[in-house]
Amino acid sequence: MNTHPIVIAHRGACGYLPEHSLEGKAAAFGMGVDFVELDAILTKDDRPIVMHDHYLDALTDVADRFPDRTRADGRHYAVDFTLNEIRQLGLHERVNLNTGEAEYPGRFPAGAALRFRIPTLEEELEMIRGLNRSMKKNIGVYIEPKGPAYHRSEGKNIERAVVSVLADFGYTDRGARCCIQSFLPESIRYMKETMKCGLFMVQLIGDNTWAETPGVDYYGMLTPQGMDEVARYADGIGPWMNQIIADAGDGAAPEYTKLVEWAHERGMEVHPYTFRADALPSYVKSFNELLEIFYVRMGVDGIFTDFPDLAIDFLRQKGMR
Ligand code: G3P
Ligand code: CA
Repeated sequence: MNTHPIVIAHRGACGYLPEHSLEGKAAAFGMGVDFVELDAILTKDDRPIVMHDHYLDALTDVADRFPDRTRADGRHYAVDFTLNEIRQLGLHERVNLNTGEAEYPGRFPAGAALRFRIPTLEEELEMIRGLNRSMKKNIGVYIEPKGPAYHRSEGKNIERAVVSVLADFGYTDRGARCCIQSFLPESIRYMKETMKCGLFMVQLIGDNTWAETPGVDYYGMLTPQGMDEVARYADGIGPWMNQIIADAGDGAAPEYTKLVEWAHERGMEVHPYTFRADALPSYVKSFNELLEIFYVRMGVDGIFTDFPDLAIDFLRQKGMR
């Protein structure tokens, strides 16, 4: 798909501006990224919005504005709010709900009076189309219809909503600069085989212990046989970076796996997540060292990063873009 290793702006340039704010996406554009990453979820009235979590509490002032609209776990879920209500919320830097403190303390101030807002998928694609035109670029969209099984349990179909909006903006086939990513194999198969969606599809690989997709055997995917199976329906994989290099902790020698090799042997691209200059694995001392290991030594085809400008600088210094 790409002629050089790519840089995917994870939730925008979220190392610098609140995740999934349009401002952060515009900053990523200015940095010259290859793709802007989006997560999409649905509102009560079935409008796709760009948001990572199913609940709104870690990123907005929903608790102040709608204190009586929580579920049993004390959280406010986007599927319980109309788009009109979502539009009333202020978006801010991510906070840790257990401590109330910023998740990444060195980033945009979580307590700033300035409030951003949650974009709809249409609004964000409109901005990307506009910027591609005005800046004479062809920056792509790398989108995750979030929580397909969760949305089903709420009587909603996130894949149809997302694929339909993508089609409205001309993202219909492999010629379009658009990738779809999912943690759920059945969701990719559904979009590809039932919906006949022709876009580039990436199987995200999580850990079996994560709550995101109960029942999916990711450990089974991390084998040659598992890669055979994934290659039947996906064009690429998006593994957790620890599945390519397992961090033994405390600076101990890491374990290098053969996952990149296995995926490449089967014709799949490899785009690991998530590279954060302010949350380095223990086996490196700098972000550049980490990029050197993944881009150069392991030969990945791209990375999801919160700090896309640093990855672009690195690749330019190496003559890799
Ligand atoms: O989507 C790419 C990768 O970062 C997956 O993790 O939780 O950020 O959607 P998440
Ligand atoms: Ca994502």
